Amino acid sequence: MFSQQPLFEMRDIVKEFSGVPALSGINLSVRPGECLGLCGENGAGKSTLMKVLSGVYPYDSYCGQILWEGEELRSRSTSDSERAGIVILHQELMLVQQLSVTENIFLGNEMRLSCGRMNYPAMHQRAAELLARLKLTDVNVAAPVMNYGNGHQQLFEIARALAKEARLLIFDEPTSSLSAKEIEVLLSIIDDLKRAGVACIYISHKLDEVMRVCDTITVIRDGKHIATHPVATLDENGIIGLMVGRALEARFPRTERQVGAVVLEARDVSCWDVTNPQRKRVDNASLQVRAGEILGIAGLVGAGRTEFMSAIYGAYAGRSVGEVWVAGQVVHIAFPADAIAHGLCLVPEDRKRHGIVPQMSVAENITLASLSDYARIVRVDSDSELATVEREIARLRIKTASPGLPVASLSGGNQQKVVLSKMALKTPKVLILDEPTRGVDIGAKYDIYKMIFDLADRGVASSWCLQNCLRFSV
Ligand SMILES: Nc1ncnc2c1ncn2[C@@H]1O[C@H](COP(=O)(O)OP(=O)(O)OP(=O)(O)O)[C@@H](O)[C@H]1O
Ligand SMILES: [Mg+2]
Repeated sequence: MFSQQPLFEMRDIVKEFSGVPALSGINLSVRPGECLGLCGENGAGKSTLMKVLSGVYPYDSYCGQILWEGEELRSRSTSDSERAGIVILHQELMLVQQLSVTENIFLGNEMRLSCGRMNYPAMHQRAAELLARLKLTDVNVAAPVMNYGNGHQQLFEIARALAKEARLLIFDEPTSSLSAKEIEVLLSIIDDLKRAGVACIYISHKLDEVMRVCDTITVIRDGKHIATHPVATLDENGIIGLMVGRALEARFPRTERQVGAVVLEARDVSCWDVTNPQRKRVDNASLQVRAGEILGIAGLVGAGRTEFMSAIYGAYAGRSVGEVWVAGQVVHIAFPADAIAHGLCLVPEDRKRHGIVPQMSVAENITLASLSDYARIVRVDSDSELATVEREIARLRIKTASPGLPVASLSGGNQQKVVLSKMALKTPKVLILDEPTRGVDIGAKYDIYKMIFDLADRGVASSWCLQNCLRFSV
């Protein structure tokens, strides 16, 4: 089926951060037209390995060798790798929020007129064509990307990768904000790319997607290569077994509990689009959540879940109206600070923009919202703060070499656990979770579900935005 010659080979790749190994001697190769699934738990080293391959980490910052069609590839930057034909779609959104959709799609790859000026009409047209291929037809390509939600932005990133003539396309968690329909479109585009001889590497914690689109699967664990098998010889449980290296507890720790009185009620909430004030994004939506209840809010990308929740929380950028009641009292929430004062906490969908403070350490991020608990008259009780941090790191199995490292150095799924831990430590009355298990591996999902059930047992009400399925309805 594939030509026997690999397109590239990575040999014995070793990468360390401040002496801590992230990759310990990994070999990997992919043939033209092949799609390789790269699986492993949060922090296993998948993104790091792909950053080595795509030139994010230059060739003298790791040990080992990369051969591209038999010749050694020594990339100093992603531009060097792109010239060879390697294009990476990163796990975190890399768009420049103030630039237009078109400008983002062609950033660093602009179409120019003979005089050197940018050829905007051609770029707008090409951008619209690329988005149409992704079945996105309602986008104003001249508008800034910040006008669009995470799901759309993820599709813009995919369009940007498709705009480049890649011979190897690396997808690092490409579908974490996409609906089932959009995922299907992407997977069929990957099928087309494979037929055209493009090699792909596909990273996802959603194993059904991996099984559907990949030909071969490589599993890594703790920076080491564990196995490479044709997909036809594996099933989901087999992959999970290789990933976690231990018997996994039940995948879903459901517990039953009595629910109490209504804690949060939102009545007739409406929101208008930020850029098009004529258009309603949420139309007279209402909800009620009781103490100890976990309420799922389902809907496709763009259905208005995030807008609805942000409006309740005082974080919606556009105009919104509606009434919010907390514990039987009508409350006025204009800003997130008002919501927090009334006992509401939001775990946002986009952890990079709204969830973490990247320059601060893991420990500082965990205690950020509850710092007043450690304040003594003139100082912070750092012993008790550290004890809490260490307990949280152990409880949620957050993989970090030290609590003092910047949170940005953690793998995506581990950053997500930090955001959750920060909000749970406040012991809110109501916890609003917007896609809380985005980019989180199967074992860690269990830890997060368990944390939410523990909070519910203590009477915290949660409402949970979900994309494709309603897991809870109480
Ligand atoms: N810039 C960095 N500085 C320090 N440590 C880092 C850095 N980047 C990654 N690491 C560490 O390297 C290890 C591998 O991280 P990586 O992001 O590759 O994991 P991953 O397999 O992509 O996980 P996820 O599924 O959560 O995205 C982790 O322990 C992480 O903390
Ligand atoms: Mg990653």
